[in-house]
Amino acid sequence: MSTLSASAPVRVAVIGGGLMGREVASALGRWFVLENFPVRAELIAVCDVQPALLDWFRRVPGVRHFCTDHRALLALPDIDVVYVAVPHHLHEEIYLDVLRAGKDLLAEKPFGIDLAVARRVRDEAARLGRFVRVSSEFPFLPGAQRAMAVARSGALGKVLEARCAFLHSSDLDPTKPINWKRQNRFCGLGGVMNDLGLHVAHVPLRLGWKLRSIHAQLQKIYPERPDGKGGVAACDTWDNATLLCTAEIAGQCAPLTLEMKRLAPGETNTWIFELLGTERGVRFSTKEPKTLWQFHREKEQWWEKTDLGFGVPFKTITGGIFEPGFPDILMQMWAAFLAERAGQLGDRFGCATPKEAVAHHEWWAAALESQLNQGVVTLPPAP
Ligand SMILES: NC(=O)c1ccc[n+]([C@@H]2O[C@H](COP(=O)([O-])OP(=O)(O)OC[C@H]3O[C@@H](n4cnc5c(N)ncnc54)[C@H](O)[C@@H]3O)[C@@H](O)[C@H]2O)c1
Repeated sequence: MSTLSASAPVRVAVIGGGLMGREVASALGRWFVLENFPVRAELIAVCDVQPALLDWFRRVPGVRHFCTDHRALLALPDIDVVYVAVPHHLHEEIYLDVLRAGKDLLAEKPFGIDLAVARRVRDEAARLGRFVRVSSEFPFLPGAQRAMAVARSGALGKVLEARCAFLHSSDLDPTKPINWKRQNRFCGLGGVMNDLGLHVAHVPLRLGWKLRSIHAQLQKIYPERPDGKGGVAACDTWDNATLLCTAEIAGQCAPLTLEMKRLAPGETNTWIFELLGTERGVRFSTKEPKTLWQFHREKEQWWEKTDLGFGVPFKTITGGIFEPGFPDILMQMWAAFLAERAGQLGDRFGCATPKEAVAHHEWWAAALESQLNQGVVTLPPAP
């Protein structure tokens, strides 16, 4: 039986009820499946500039405030936490408004359209003492959790190489209409790195890997797309990014490849983590979401395949042999956010921090410089 705390629930509001805002309504809507979880959570308010999306939220039990102006939502006294999922050019204004309204924030990535914004939001959150984390859900998959345990095991031997990737393919279709994620003025000059980058960077940053250098291969593949109104529009963002890096991993320097691609044939939403050492190695991909591959060697060498069950950080009613999916890990991420906010995360994996979001923007700024100069950019040691 669920033993959620009897104390008052955390009252959550969503600003931006598009793709991700509705996923969050789904995750919070079945909060009761968490077992022995210390915090109750209720989605009570939503803001979107599109009235049709507000109407969608009328089907969500408990939502009682519907706003088209985020300032009206933030003026409501009964909101504790705000989740913001809007295009990147709006992050700075809305994130700062949330913080200054006295609310805690679960921000969407990339935490501002560029590095300067990310630093300003981080600094304001620290100045005001607000609890702020950034959305990145893939590390909550059982395969990712197990892969991180191997990375931390100290048993890799000599580190040979690592690869972190997040791959999409729907943009292979040149007739797909443009949207804000394909336009620099909304998405940011980082393009695909702004869009997919935190998914790739969160685990290496949390494992303490330090980037020493970056050589970027950035590609713009389709320069224009249908505008959805019978014409065409410029598609000026970087579509694919392959970053060949030198990283300090477990105290040793090794090649690290970071890949963020919108045009990766056959990949719908593939998150990949691979780390190889001379003694042990690990591979996990959402292509095989219940499979963990682990390398080890004695006289012979093995790649062992483990069938993973529902080994998520926060236990739910779901049976241990079942497979987790995107809605499950989004809920796990929210559980980590609210547990950490309540001081009850313990030794479990936490959401990406503002410091990590700033660090990932530093990587993408270096990648843009590398692309511009067609050379290797050396990163300063982390403070
Ligand atoms: N964590 C993830 O897996 C993941 C996945 C996709 C997108 N994202 C991030 O989520 C954010 C939103 O992306 P999305 O895919 O949900 O976009 P989306 O376009 O589907 O939704 C954005 C919503 O914001 C609304 N909006 C625009 N201006 C607004 C304003 N001033 N006030 C209130 N609402 C406003 C739009 O009407 C739209 O409904 C981005 O930061 C994106 O990078 C994260």
